[in-house]
Amino acid sequence: MAGDGETAPPPKPRRPEPCSFVIFGASGDLTRRLLVPALYNLAAADLLPERFCLVGFSRQEMTDDQFRDRLKDGLKEFATAKVDPKVVDRLLACTCYVRGEANNPDDYATLRQRLEQLEDSSKTAGNRLFYLAVPPSIFLDTCRNIAKAGLTKEDGNAWRHVIVEKPFGTDLESAKKLNAALLRLLKEDQIFRIDHYLGKETVQNILILRFANGLFEPIWNRDHIDHVQITVAETVNVERRGRFYDAAGALRDMVPNHLFQLLSLVAMEPPARFDAGPVRSEKAEILEAIQLLDPAEALKDSVRAQYLGGQVNGSAVVPYREAPDVAPDSVTETFVALKLQIENWRWAGVPFYLRTGKAMARRRTEVAIKFKEAPFAMFRATEIDRLAQNFLTIGIQPEETIALQFNAKVPGPAMALEGVEMKFNYRDYFDAAPSTGYETLIYDCMIGDALLFQRADGVEAGWRAVQPFLDAWKAAGGKGLATYAAGSEGPEEAAALLARDGRRWRSLSR
Ligand code: BG6
Repeated sequence: MAGDGETAPPPKPRRPEPCSFVIFGASGDLTRRLLVPALYNLAAADLLPERFCLVGFSRQEMTDDQFRDRLKDGLKEFATAKVDPKVVDRLLACTCYVRGEANNPDDYATLRQRLEQLEDSSKTAGNRLFYLAVPPSIFLDTCRNIAKAGLTKEDGNAWRHVIVEKPFGTDLESAKKLNAALLRLLKEDQIFRIDHYLGKETVQNILILRFANGLFEPIWNRDHIDHVQITVAETVNVERRGRFYDAAGALRDMVPNHLFQLLSLVAMEPPARFDAGPVRSEKAEILEAIQLLDPAEALKDSVRAQYLGGQVNGSAVVPYREAPDVAPDSVTETFVALKLQIENWRWAGVPFYLRTGKAMARRRTEVAIKFKEAPFAMFRATEIDRLAQNFLTIGIQPEETIALQFNAKVPGPAMALEGVEMKFNYRDYFDAAPSTGYETLIYDCMIGDALLFQRADGVEAGWRAVQPFLDAWKAAGGKGLATYAAGSEGPEEAAALLARDGRRWRSLSR
C-alpha cells in the first residue's frame, strides 16, 4: 500500500494534444545532440501527440529527405537508448524542412505556407511549439519574424508556444530589454524560458524533499541551519567555446540561472499550490530578497579566478588564456565564489556560499545544508574532543543522492564517536531510463505547464542579485582576479572566503 513504504505505480501521463514542433536552428548541434534524442525518448514512451509533425528551419540547403536522414544519423550517435526503427519511423512520419535566413521575412512566409499545408493534411489542429535553438545574436530577429508572419498568434483554440534557450541577456538591463521586446511579440504564457537545470530530476526533487515531508521544513530556517553551500564544479574546460565564454565568464554563464535555480528551490517559501503561478512567484520573491551589496562589499564577498595549466582526470589542460578564441590578456573568470545573504525572516544571518568553476578536480554538483552543532557540554568530561558536522547534502551530479551525516557511537567500551552517513541513491530505488534531461521540459511545454520554466520576473531578479558583482569587477578590471591550477579545488582565496567566517568548503574529492 502506498504510504506504508511501498510505492504505487506512478500514473501514466496523458498524451499531449496534436501539434507541430518547429525547430529554428535545425541544422545545429542542440537539435542533433539533445532535441531529437529527447523527442525520440518521448515517442518511445508514447508521450508524443498522436498527430505530430516535425519542422526544421535553418540557413543550410537541404531537402526534406536529407533533413530526415540527418536526424536519423544524429540519433545513431546521440540516442540515450537502443534505437528502435519503428519508433524512429513514427517520430519522423511527418517531417519537413524549410531553408531560411533568420532576418528574411519572405522565408517565414514560406514557412507559414508549408506549415499550414502540413497542418491541414496531418490534422495537428494548428497547435505549434517553436523551439529557438539559435545563437543569441539572431534570437530576437527570429522571434520578430515568426510573430510578424502571424505564426504565433493564438486564435480559436490552437496554442502557440515558444521555447527560448539561455542566455537571457548579459546583465540586468539587457535582460529587461529582452523581456520587454519579447512581451511585445508574445504573451508571457506563450514564452517558455528553459533552464536545463530544471529538467534534472534531483533538482525538481528539492521541492518534494522540502514540502512533501513533515520532517525537514520545521528545521529549515535560521534557528537550525548554520549555512548553505551550493557547488557546481566542472572538469570540462572552455574547450572550443572561447568566443562565447570569454565574453561571458563563469558568473554570467552559471550563477543567475543554474545556481540560482538551486538556491531558489532550497530557500523559497512554501507556495500555496504546486502550480506554475505560485511556485514561480515564490522563486522570484526569494531572489528579490538577496541582499544587494555596495561595490566594496561586493569585492569582499566574492572571489573570481581563472585557471592556469594543469592536469584534469590525467589529461593536460592548457591555461585558459591559451585556449582558442580567448584573449591572451583576458580577465574573464572561469571560477567564482560568492557569499550571499537572504534578507528575510527565515534566512536572516544564514550565509549562502556559492561556487562554480571549470577545469576543477572533480565534477560535482551539490547543495549542502549545514545544521547548527549540538551543545558540546555533555561531552566535556569524556574522551571526545569534537562532534562531526551535521550536513544534509543533495547530490545532483554525477551521483543523484540525498545524504545525512550524523554522529554515531563507535562500538566498544570506549566512548568514541564517528561521523557516519545515511544515503539515498536514486538509482537504488528507481530504474529511470537514461534521458537527455530535455524530455520533461518539452513534454511540459506541449501540455502548457510552465512550472519548470523561468518567468520574466525570475530572470530579472536573478540578474539584479548578481549585478553588484558584475559592476564591482568591471570597475576593478584585472585587479583582484585570482588563479588556480587546472585540476585543483579552486583558488586559495575561495577557501579564505569561508575561513574568514570559521567555515570550510566541502571537499570535491570525497
Ligand atoms: C551550460 C553552460 O548552461 O551549462 C556550460 O553554458 C556548462 O558552460 C553547462 O558547462 C553545465 O551543465 P551541466 O548539466 O553539465 O551541469
